[in-house]
Amino acid sequence: MTISKNKVTARAYTNIALIKYWGKVDQKLKIPTTSSLSLTLKDFYTDTSVLFNEKLLEDKITFNGQQLSEKKAERIVNFLDVVRDLAQQNVYAEVSTINKVPTSAGLASSASGFAALAASASKAIGLNLNKKDLSRLARRGSGSATRSIYGGFVEWEKGFSDETSYAVPFEEEVDWPINVVAVMVNQSEKQMSSSKGMQISVNTSPYYSAWEKVSKKALKEIKVAIKNRDFDRMGKIAEENAMQMHALTLSSSPDYTYFDADSLKVMNLVHSLRSSGLTCYFTMDAGPNVKILVEKQNTSKLVSELEKEFGSDKVIVTSAGPGIEYQ
Ligand code: DP6
Repeated sequence: MTISKNKVTARAYTNIALIKYWGKVDQKLKIPTTSSLSLTLKDFYTDTSVLFNEKLLEDKITFNGQQLSEKKAERIVNFLDVVRDLAQQNVYAEVSTINKVPTSAGLASSASGFAALAASASKAIGLNLNKKDLSRLARRGSGSATRSIYGGFVEWEKGFSDETSYAVPFEEEVDWPINVVAVMVNQSEKQMSSSKGMQISVNTSPYYSAWEKVSKKALKEIKVAIKNRDFDRMGKIAEENAMQMHALTLSSSPDYTYFDADSLKVMNLVHSLRSSGLTCYFTMDAGPNVKILVEKQNTSKLVSELEKEFGSDKVIVTSAGPGIEYQ
């Protein structure tokens, strides 16, 4: 194994979970309680360059051109330790990360962030990982990053150990004309991190065991819906699964929520559009922004309804994106 003399750059795209991951059985290894399924998105991505350099006395991390404070860099440094351990190397790195999103205020994503870092750092240190092992490594940074190694529809099989918990492509090339419309209602940083929030839910929500049961069934059913190109069925399962996840936050102790007033407004609009015949379904992660699944032929109608309510700078249309790319 030889450390690369040149910096290595990788690009990873974020993903939106249709069947959510919300809880771990092992926090250090990030082994989830349930399997999940996502769609990788084309317009939200992260470019990360890594150079391991014998001359450095500590890791040097910059994010969108700014050097990160020690506190903010901690999670990245911990991840680099995992990479160093794996490679049996003791050398610091220069890491520079740029988040590319269509608007200035981004859809912050640990999924694309840690997937890009896993790919660039492992290659820069001389590890030549296959995609399965890359997915396992990305998982150590952030659970959702496990899935961003692949494009299209991706399943993260929960497994039960570091060796058995990784993502597999479900349908990498998506020839299905569907869009995801992101409604960016609020850009401020979330109060409750997903890592913290999900663990509170695992430990305190009386509905947690029901969640494990229903999401297992939903995963099976959504795979059939995707294979059958049954948009209605897929959307309905995804929307229900998102609400069931958010029910875990509301039923935790202490309770918390990622909904804000505008998220509810978007959800209500989706419901009313649907009853007026425009087929679309929403999903939401650990933040107030709402993503809406819609077929291509209905996208412009949906966008114009959303823009009327929220303004055109808040509405971003994207679609299925690819897996990890090296530059
Ligand atoms: C709601 O991957 O951010 O987006 O593993 O603790 O870093 P950690 O959590 P993270 O959680 C993502 C939660 C989610 C659902 C999902 O992407 O499946």
